[in-house]
Amino acid sequence: MKIYDYIIVGAGVAGLYGALNIPKDKSVLILAKDPLWECNTFYAQGGIATATDEEDIPSHMQDTLAAGAGLCDEKAVEILSRNSISVIEDLITRGFAFDKDKNGNLLFTKEAAHSKPRILHAGGDATGRELHRFLLQQTRAQVLEGVIVVDLLIEDDYIHGVTVRQGKKQFNLYAKNVILASGGIGSLYAYHTNSKKISADLQGLAKLKGLKLQDMEFTQFHPTVFIYNTRARKLLLTEALRGEGATIVDENGKRFLYDYDERGELAPRDIVSRAIYKYKQLGHEVYLDFSVFDEDFFKKRFPTIYRNFRNLGFNVPQERVPISPAFHFIMGGIKTDTWGKVEGMQNLYAVGEVACTGVHGANRLASNSLLEGLVFSRRAVEDSLMQESSFTPKEFKAKEFALIKSNDSEYKGLLRQTMWEKVGIVRHPKELENALEIVIDMQKKDIGYLLQLRIATAKTIIEAAIARKESVGAHYIEK
Ligand code: SIN
Repeated sequence: MKIYDYIIVGAGVAGLYGALNIPKDKSVLILAKDPLWECNTFYAQGGIATATDEEDIPSHMQDTLAAGAGLCDEKAVEILSRNSISVIEDLITRGFAFDKDKNGNLLFTKEAAHSKPRILHAGGDATGRELHRFLLQQTRAQVLEGVIVVDLLIEDDYIHGVTVRQGKKQFNLYAKNVILASGGIGSLYAYHTNSKKISADLQGLAKLKGLKLQDMEFTQFHPTVFIYNTRARKLLLTEALRGEGATIVDENGKRFLYDYDERGELAPRDIVSRAIYKYKQLGHEVYLDFSVFDEDFFKKRFPTIYRNFRNLGFNVPQERVPISPAFHFIMGGIKTDTWGKVEGMQNLYAVGEVACTGVHGANRLASNSLLEGLVFSRRAVEDSLMQESSFTPKEFKAKEFALIKSNDSEYKGLLRQTMWEKVGIVRHPKELENALEIVIDMQKKDIGYLLQLRIATAKTIIEAAIARKESVGAHYIEK
């Protein structure tokens, strides 16, 4: 049987940058769903947060800790911030082109809850797309596209490989190390900004395998999303717009956020999302207003948003766009140490959004997510290389799973609506209990295995939300 040195599940920033850090003499197989570019990295707009220099590390740390509402792991935050400078330098050395001014200086922008401009970007508002393309071009790893991981071959504290489904075929793949970099849970919510391939199955599979999920109640809602397009993925309007002067207004042009928080548009993401949600419940319309920008600047600085919204018939930047919060990111995930190693395992790592290092606490600071993917994927590889292991995977019999059944789409819809309405921006204890009853009932239905995994993830989120009785960060309880 073929044994790889590494199998990496996921081809977003964490998976691809991890692969890039693996020495050339090691064999690496990256597993990706189809098509390869469908991942959250591809859609990331704003940028990559970084300490601008050594002196800025305490301030970047402080902003991250404050956004995390006291629940971050401080050691993980320090690692994130200290390593930010070297991963950015590494990307630049490898040839990645961040946006610069006409004198060749890196352009840093500001986003909510950052005390200074420290977000690097590329292609204006296409940072994720540019980074993803760059990392794909750089990769030497073998990539297997169109596969879904359906089992983790775990025995005691070692993983031997994974079972995958490709078309109608199901087979095992073996490796000395497995790195999970499969992203978040967007498809659990009726309204979200994520790639449609982000379906929460790996978290559910981890749970089924007895791995620990942590901080799952902390689901982040991005405040400025255009939710009126018909696709599952709703259109993000980056925080950088507000960082550079766009405002949030009601139907009369009133900047009502100041009624909720003195920082207005630049308050942390959870506060802005909640304020918009509550204001809308009072019967108001809410818009993002770009009229501060001159058209040439807007077109150059935010080309993706310009193009998307012009195509939708909005005369941006002159015309304002109706917005709503939508699910964006989960702070929780598979519990790891600060090297990305999964708790209780010797050769299994989780990095990026699928993981929980504790770096985000109860609420992630804007643009710390691409950074997290870069920093912790590199550390996971470093850690794996430090382990002097004689481990050799053994062969497993491949199990057959009935992945999809005819009932699934009805229950997927019910799950998404339940999560949005009962496990959303503002939560009520009774509604959470009701959501739990709904998902437990759903688990008993004749549904496919992939949906069972998705429900297992949702159940973990709901149970964690029920267990946390007080509001903190992105978890907001109204009694
Ligand atoms: C954005 O561009 O607003 C999203 C950035 C992020 O999620 O950190």
